[in-house]
Amino acid sequence: MVTAIATPNIALVKYWGKKDENLIIPMNSSISLTLDEQLKCIAEAEFANGKDEMVVNGKPARVDDYRVLDYVRKLAGIDKRFKIKSDTWFPVAGGLASSAAGFAAIAFALAALLEEEEGIELSIKDISRIARMGSGSACRSVLGGAVEWLAGTNDETSYAVQLVPFEGVELVDVIGILSHEEKKFSSRAGMQMTVKTSKLYRERMKTVGERIEKARAALKEKDYETLFAETMADSDSMHACMMDTQPPLNYLNEKSLEIIRRVNGLNEKEGRIVCGYTFDAGPDAHIITESKNAADAEKLFGGITDEIIIATVSCGPRVLG
Ligand code: DP6
Repeated sequence: MVTAIATPNIALVKYWGKKDENLIIPMNSSISLTLDEQLKCIAEAEFANGKDEMVVNGKPARVDDYRVLDYVRKLAGIDKRFKIKSDTWFPVAGGLASSAAGFAAIAFALAALLEEEEGIELSIKDISRIARMGSGSACRSVLGGAVEWLAGTNDETSYAVQLVPFEGVELVDVIGILSHEEKKFSSRAGMQMTVKTSKLYRERMKTVGERIEKARAALKEKDYETLFAETMADSDSMHACMMDTQPPLNYLNEKSLEIIRRVNGLNEKEGRIVCGYTFDAGPDAHIITESKNAADAEKLFGGITDEIIIATVSCGPRVLG
């Protein structure tokens, strides 16, 4: 049996919409930071005798999740069954359930099992493709530091690459948990509705490529003011498209909006962009800032929540044994 650990990532330029639902090929490339092991998923993989078995957080996996195992068999050219168990570990109850960390850990554990027991060596590109088949954003969590998921056009060309190793990213994600409610629409269902019904989304598709170029360059040059500006603009753009969806998808709450106001207020007071907010398909706030400014970002949550995690950027998944 092989055990692997992986962590979630936070997207600075978001993935929201697929051009292929089965292969999970995204409409656009996305950029993220892989976070540290305060938030983590540990997955165990072994060969099974009878049929595939997959248990996620103590419950049987969704039917869709088993596609990952078929995909691995095809990729490795083997006909074996697998037994998978994965568990998510978060310091705060509720929020931040991460399928990204889960599938990255599963992909890593499967790759390690194939290498140890079958002598089959998969590349990091292949491991990223395996994770992608579980959940799109998971393909970014197989690498540490700053990562880009190249959208590509087909299964072969859609995978993640590292932009900057973790030592070269002097940023933290100050996460404030703002709700413990379950979201009404999963990302998977929500993004499908947006692609189908939002006119604004077509506008987003015209400009997101340019944003990727800017964010990529900003990360490499450590031009964090530009990066934070693009991060906020991209989160706003995605949430505007969500609101433009029929029926409208509103993932933010009053507290999220107050954090947006406070981040803008701090940046105005400082006379430069010292931090940037970003939100996924939920109200929890992520404030990205330079490590040295983590305490100032944390203060922005005063009176709103004391469930705060200051996550650094990590080196990505590893095999535990
Ligand atoms: C808003 O990766 O969870 O977090 O591919 O359908 O499993 P599926 O979706 P998922 O979507 C993540 C969307 C997001 C933005 C992002 O992480 O880029």
